[in-house]
Amino acid sequence: MKFSKILIVDDEKISREQIKRWLRTENYDSDEAENGENALTKVAKGNYSVVLLDVKLPDISGFDVLKQIKHHYPDTCVIIFTAYGDTEITKRALREGADDFFDKPIDYELLLPKIESAIENFKLRRDKITKKQEEIKQFSFENIIGQSPKMWDIFNKIKKVAQSDSTILILGESGTGKELIASAIHHNSLRADKKFVVFNCAAVVETIVSSDLFGHERGAFTDAHERKLGKLEHANNGTIFFDEIAELSQQVQTKFLRFLQERKFERLGGNETLEVDVRVLAATNKDLEKLMNEEKFRNDLYFRLNVFPIQLPPLRERKEDIPLLVEHIIQKSNSKLKRNILGIKEDALDFLMDYHFPGNIRELENIIERAVLLAEGEFLTIENLPSNLGNRQTKVTSIYFTLPHAQAKEAFEKDYIEQVLKNHNGNISQACKFAGMDRTNFKDKMKKYGISRPKSGNQDVDED
Ligand SMILES: Nc1ncnc2c1ncn2[C@@H]1O[C@H](COP(=O)(O)OP(=O)(O)OP(=O)(O)O)[C@@H](O)[C@H]1O
Ligand SMILES: [Mg+2]
Repeated sequence: MKFSKILIVDDEKISREQIKRWLRTENYDSDEAENGENALTKVAKGNYSVVLLDVKLPDISGFDVLKQIKHHYPDTCVIIFTAYGDTEITKRALREGADDFFDKPIDYELLLPKIESAIENFKLRRDKITKKQEEIKQFSFENIIGQSPKMWDIFNKIKKVAQSDSTILILGESGTGKELIASAIHHNSLRADKKFVVFNCAAVVETIVSSDLFGHERGAFTDAHERKLGKLEHANNGTIFFDEIAELSQQVQTKFLRFLQERKFERLGGNETLEVDVRVLAATNKDLEKLMNEEKFRNDLYFRLNVFPIQLPPLRERKEDIPLLVEHIIQKSNSKLKRNILGIKEDALDFLMDYHFPGNIRELENIIERAVLLAEGEFLTIENLPSNLGNRQTKVTSIYFTLPHAQAKEAFEKDYIEQVLKNHNGNISQACKFAGMDRTNFKDKMKKYGISRPKSGNQDVDED
């Protein structure tokens, strides 16, 4: 028997059996479905290279079956059967994604080459995916994708420190992969087979943060009906990751500092001093030095945490990673959404390369996942991307609303500065006058967002 498997969808039993028998003589293994629903169930489980589909079915229309198969498994080839000479149906089926068509009654000698070429197509599509997977593997480390020098730098740093027990502070804008890096460090450490516990410092109520971290004894506060172990105890022998460390209240900062110095603590309302062996990782998207200067973050805590900082670059500073990330995300979305998108069209990729991604990789993930859901063919097209991504004029209506307030403000500010500069042909003096901003501030913002002046036009002489 040949490796490829074929599904025959036809409501007539005799017809199915005939085809099946013939396929067997040609050494092809096949399954049968007598209606549309059954066909879709089988396709979902069967991994067929080819579906032979009669469009006249008793339950769902054959066109709907065709659309469903092509939507979820675009690499599966569909050959439709129609009554002899029914060109309208044939045309429609081809328009809706059928790979080929065939007239009934069947002339098997003519059908064979069609099946063979369909199988060939299916294999080519699969090979493409495998090749991409191999390429992605080559440029990734623990699911962290990157081939840019900046990311290689990060990979090397991780490898260097993972095995030590040192505290690591991961810095970077929202969506740059801080949590992913933290988990990679843990999984490459000597504690890899122990727990990795995430502690989110951003909860609002002080008691909740404290009790979540240190645990509490029964009766420690009104709702403390039972003794509860804190995350520190849960993480014993493993790693604890303090996410959004800048959000810790002053009070908890003090308790946490003591823990970092002595590795000792008490549960809330408890007298017993406990000791745990945990490795500490922390992350923030805030500027801790600035918070320190504003006396919102303790100096001594900062120095304890900042033993080995890892600064993650924003995506716009390593755009060469975008193509690989896009492929990686397409594959992740394929398995999540049961789709088989093969890649992205070049103009759509160019479009993404031009975008500045204020929400970094998380934003790219949202964009691609949505596109994978919407795509009608094998490749993502520019139509599948949010229409306003590249068009600064209409952006106001959407992308900002998909971001948290702080990033939305930054995204807008960047677009604003860029557009005003463009409107004044790159003349900074005119642009900042128009914006009502002072020149230093305007230039600082340009630097912050990596905006350079448009090349053409009358530019003022500008000292840097
Ligand atoms: N280099 C990368 N390769 C592949 N996926 C990545 C990479 N960096 C981030 N991601 C993915 O992007 C998403 C956001 O990453 P993560 O949650 O680690 O970011 P974060 O910096 O913690 O963001 P936030 O500050 O918003 O909490 C995750 O789904 C993660 O898997
Ligand atoms: Mg995070």
